[in-house]
Amino acid sequence: MSIAVFASGSGSNFESLVERSRKQWPRPVSLLISDKPQAGALERAERLGVPAFVFQPKSYENKAAYEQAILAVLQEHEIEWILLAGYMRLIGPTLLGSYPWRILNIHPSLLPAFQGKDAVEQALAYGVRWTGVTVHWVDEGMDTGPIIDQKPVLVEPEETLESLMKKVQFVEHNLYPATVYKLLTGKIPDRPSGR
Ligand code: GRF
Repeated sequence: MSIAVFASGSGSNFESLVERSRKQWPRPVSLLISDKPQAGALERAERLGVPAFVFQPKSYENKAAYEQAILAVLQEHEIEWILLAGYMRLIGPTLLGSYPWRILNIHPSLLPAFQGKDAVEQALAYGVRWTGVTVHWVDEGMDTGPIIDQKPVLVEPEETLESLMKKVQFVEHNLYPATVYKLLTGKIPDRPSGR
């Protein structure tokens, strides 16, 4: 039941997943995959002692070849679950077909509101009173897969982007590890109903 995290950015969610997995999950996170050689997540992986691999899409002929290369490493490491944590690419048929209902994502809004990039900014600009965080299964769309869990975050009248980001991140760092823990230990169904 080995677990990989995919990240393109700073990797704060990656770090919270690694730390919680070591304390609480039946298996710790054992691999980081990134598409960006400059991703902060890679430095965190080194500090945390998690093996990391970078795959740059431009080095491959097409998306299928890119994902095939990733798949080979995942299989070598006997990975069964993939946790996207700020991975800024759509997952293609190669990985989706090999990991049915075994790829999760965290998104910083209450989906289906504010899909895609800059979701916290979008929510603030729209003027919602509540935004939040969603953990969902990954399908071929962008932030469209079945929802597993959500947590709301209050937008105060004086909220700034910085303060709202902080609140959303704090919730992310708790909700994602807690939801994965529940999936791995059978406390909630490990696939959408009827699948
Ligand atoms: C998080 O807000 C996550 O929800 C989104 O990308 C961001 C990644 O942040 N998908 P970090 O790299 O984990 O700090």
